[in-house]
Amino acid sequence: MDFSLPHCFCFFLLLLPISTSGQTYRNISLGSYLTAAKDKSSWTSPSGDFAFGFQQVGDAGFLLAIWFNKIPERTIVWSANRNDLVRRGSRVQVTTDGQLVLSDQSGRRIRIADSVENGVAYAAMLDTGNFVLASQSAANLWQSFDQPTDTMLPTQNLSLGGELIAPYLERNYSDGRYKFILSTEGNLQMYTTRYPSTANNVAYWSTPSPTVGGYQVIYNQSGYMYLVAKNGTVLNFVFSSSVSMQDFYQRATLDYDGVFRQYVYPKAAASRRRRWNMAWTSLSPSIPSNICLSTRGAVGGGACGYNSYCSLGGDQRPSCQCPSGYTFLDPNDVRKGCKQNFVSQDCDQPSEETDNFDFMDMPNADWPDNDYEHFDSVDEDWCRQACLSDCYCAVATFKDRNCWKKRIPFSNGRIDPSYGTKALIKVRIGNSTTGPSSKKNDRSTLIITGSALLGSSVFLNVLSLIGIYVFISRLSRQKQKMIQPLNVMPGVNPVSFTYNELETATGGFKEELGSGAFGTVYKGDLANEDTPLIAVKKLEKMVEQGEQEFETEVKVIGRTNHKNLVQLLGFCNEGQHRLLVYEYMSNGSLSIYLFGDSRPNWYRRVQIACDVARGLLYLHEECSSQIIHCDIKPQNILLDESLNARISDFGLAKLLKRDQTKTTTAIRGTKGYVAPEWFKNLPVTTKVDIYSFGILLLELVCCRKKFELDVMEEDQIVLADWAYDCFKEAKLDLLVEADEEAMEDMKRVERFVMVAIWCIQEDPSLRPGMKKVVQILEGAVQVSIPPEPTSFISSI
Ligand SMILES: *[C@@H]1O[C@H](CO)[C@@H](O)[C@H](O)[C@H]1NC(C)=O
Ligand SMILES: *[C@@H]1O[C@H](CO)[C@@H](O)[C@H](O)[C@H]1NC(C)=O
Ligand SMILES: *[C@@H]1O[C@H](CO)[C@@H](O)[C@H](O)[C@H]1NC(C)=O
Ligand SMILES: *[C@@H]1O[C@H](CO)[C@@H](O)[C@H](O)[C@H]1NC(C)=O
Ligand SMILES: *[C@@H]1O[C@H](CO)[C@@H](O)[C@H](O)[C@H]1NC(C)=O
Ligand SMILES: *[C@@H]1O[C@H](CO)[C@@H](O)[C@H](O)[C@H]1NC(C)=O
Repeated sequence: MDFSLPHCFCFFLLLLPISTSGQTYRNISLGSYLTAAKDKSSWTSPSGDFAFGFQQVGDAGFLLAIWFNKIPERTIVWSANRNDLVRRGSRVQVTTDGQLVLSDQSGRRIRIADSVENGVAYAAMLDTGNFVLASQSAANLWQSFDQPTDTMLPTQNLSLGGELIAPYLERNYSDGRYKFILSTEGNLQMYTTRYPSTANNVAYWSTPSPTVGGYQVIYNQSGYMYLVAKNGTVLNFVFSSSVSMQDFYQRATLDYDGVFRQYVYPKAAASRRRRWNMAWTSLSPSIPSNICLSTRGAVGGGACGYNSYCSLGGDQRPSCQCPSGYTFLDPNDVRKGCKQNFVSQDCDQPSEETDNFDFMDMPNADWPDNDYEHFDSVDEDWCRQACLSDCYCAVATFKDRNCWKKRIPFSNGRIDPSYGTKALIKVRIGNSTTGPSSKKNDRSTLIITGSALLGSSVFLNVLSLIGIYVFISRLSRQKQKMIQPLNVMPGVNPVSFTYNELETATGGFKEELGSGAFGTVYKGDLANEDTPLIAVKKLEKMVEQGEQEFETEVKVIGRTNHKNLVQLLGFCNEGQHRLLVYEYMSNGSLSIYLFGDSRPNWYRRVQIACDVARGLLYLHEECSSQIIHCDIKPQNILLDESLNARISDFGLAKLLKRDQTKTTTAIRGTKGYVAPEWFKNLPVTTKVDIYSFGILLLELVCCRKKFELDVMEEDQIVLADWAYDCFKEAKLDLLVEADEEAMEDMKRVERFVMVAIWCIQEDPSLRPGMKKVVQILEGAVQVSIPPEPTSFISSI
């Protein structure tokens, strides 16, 4: 008898999971509805793993969606209105006649489940992530699984003609630039789209043509995805990882970068650092394995848009960059491509202009589909001259005595060590021009002189004035039209807060997040859905400036906008109170992440190095007014919820008291990361940041601090010295000794250490610029053997 109770109890426990994974639905009866609102009401599946309801997308509106409901990272697997967000107050209803209808307050109705037969008895959110309309006998009359957006879940199938369309960006769910389809002939293919339409452009991946056509793609319970023929024979595997559904959530998503990936997420609730990882598998968990090399074709920009190039980053994801002399049209949407950052060559006098142009060499880069001329049996000098004296030529590529000329816009750019091609990017030296300047100006002066001549009577004068007005306003409207969609420098004006508002938001400055050179940072909550959490920095030790100056500096900071910077949201300037309001970064600072208990994996560190480098490149060269950070160190690099590295505290150097920058005791930068010129009264340039970045890069590679007393050998105490010694003695493996992933990636380790050594040269002019650093980190440009940096200690 003693045993019967626990026995019974165990039996009950065993029964529970079985019964919930079975077919018992929590039924949603006809007539039920949900409203798009702040409190995010939703219908969840019996296990709670999935939910159906509204998700707010920034300020743009609400998305009717299905998402993983138990993990902190918002992961949407299906949506009904990705191109047509609805406003607050809209509702979705399972109508009494069994339709699923989305309607907004203006009375517009969007039918989601169309052509549903009669006989719908109830709706249900299933534990598989499938939302169904079912009949009395529990037959599915409609299911969300039949209308996939960008994601497939285990037990979901894709039938003939079915397609997944990538989202536009990571957090913009509207139709993007890539698709994955099971063609009506039964072939699996991936296409770029003719954006903004979703029509097929060029295929960049496909299953080998089978003798028997495929019939269906099955994503089975154990995580295998394969194409089957009508009689059930497996024709091709897409993914072949065997992952236990009990321990892991999984999904296969066509990401915004055009790669179809299989992801897993451990179900066990533990560390807050969990995120979606690629599944481990015998086949590649991502197809195509290198999209940079896959996209081709005479139309369309390729994987990275026009005038750009694509290379696989440290995390094996495609990374888009602009060649030297080019900048992103929109740094927040790099796939829009790049534009020339200089005035193009004057075709009226190309020979007079040749002196104004030079080439930037890019080994192993190619834009294979844009040749307009090809020469063989020529040498490289000939190729350079031919391109220089040709105003159409924007890029020349040279290989084995072959020379190809390419014009703007060039497309499908990629970098791959196997190419052996040398690309020569033609750029204007120092932006000099000899020809007449802007044509637009010429035109309006012409009109004004013309009208002055015409103006012989008052009447004519008035008439011509109206004419000029109409013409000029049209011209400027046209100009606006041309400029607006490019969105070159998106900037948000920071909001002005009152001290009271911030005091309330931080609960009276209660929760301290940290403190630094400028004062203390507090956590706050604006109780606003878009930016719920904030970090409020209370500035101390500031220059006694006029309000005007403070707000000018704040505006400069506020105008910056880059995914690797912490965005300034607002400020407070009230009497003696000066505060800055930033986005809250949920994963804390890099110093804790990097030097904490467990070592972050190698590819994550590589990614962080590239993130910081890109953020700095933006501050130095791409934003509207150049910003020198002056205090790059792990404490000032923060990690957002997706573990992207973001630079904080930039633009503050100017707000500091003048005399502080002069005295060496209260130097702005932090010891060890500070460039030698600080101590020598030399002018401070962007090269001080390059120096600090070099030290940071070594720390990232070796996963240790710049000084460490607790080391085996004395000559390991100063990281910079030790790293150079290892490099000189060709023993770089010592630096990453216990790190298997890095040991298998020694080529990259070497490249990173070499560029770091270049960055910490004592002579600022020897240090590379940030653009070069980014290109080297990405492998786009080769790095030469660095000289010895003067010993770190002796330079102080
Ligand atoms: C998503 O990107 C597209 C294309 O740039 C844009 O038209 C749309 O407004 C964006 N949607 C959101 C929600 O930001
Ligand atoms: C759901 O509705 C169906 C049909 O009316 C019914 O057979 C089933 O028992 C219901 N399930 C639950 C859990 O209410
Ligand atoms: C997927 O296809 C299999 C085999 O054709 C079928 O048994 C299963 O019901 C389908 N799944 C869904 C959700 O339709
Ligand atoms: C899924 O497919 C693989 C490969 O065909 C097979 O080995 C496995 O047993 C399947 N799993 C289930 C649950 O059907
Ligand atoms: C399915 O069809 C293919 C081609 O017609 C054939 O080779 C294969 O044996 C068939 N498989 C089954 C299980 O019938
Ligand atoms: C070169 O001049 C163009 C046009 O005047 C300008 O937009 C661009 O920013 C300049 N580039 C550099 C690197 O100064």
